[in-house]
Amino acid sequence: MATNRTFTMLKPDAVEKGHIGAILEKITASGFRIVAMKLTQMTTADAQEFYAIHKERPFFGELVEYMTRGPIVAAILEKDNAVEDFRTLIGATNPADAAEGTIRKLYAASIGENAVHGSDSDENAAIEGAFHFAGREMF
Ligand code: RTP
Ligand code: MG
Repeated sequence: MATNRTFTMLKPDAVEKGHIGAILEKITASGFRIVAMKLTQMTTADAQEFYAIHKERPFFGELVEYMTRGPIVAAILEKDNAVEDFRTLIGATNPADAAEGTIRKLYAASIGENAVHGSDSDENAAIEGAFHFAGREMF
């Protein structure tokens, strides 16, 4: 059954460039309610586990390095059709292919450093949300 929640991270490049406020404004203006949120930094072990699906890919080492180099904003978001609608809002993985007006088109520099994460399924949204938040931190 489809749920109405997704999980996001504003990645280290977005935080470094001072884009937290602008990206959160775009997210909430698009109808998402913030259910949980924090500024945090992933350890190497955290990033290896979070992106374990990509561990055989040639970019895995760079991805872990990038995702651990500074703080991120982790958040759980609620909206009807949250997973799919949020992937539409963030745009394609490679910002060069992302649609006009999407978060990656506006704020991402490259396929490797692409500003924001969005869960790709309801199942992963639940797993990823629980990875970062305790039940009492979700509203
Ligand atoms: P995400 O999981 O972060 O929301 O990104 P995504 O679904 O759009 O893309 P995915 O295929 O899951 O890739 C995860 C992240 O790995 C980095 N990446 N680098 N250098 C490369 O070719 C490459 N490809 C992927 C990106 O940070 C991507 O978001
Ligand atoms: Mg992905």
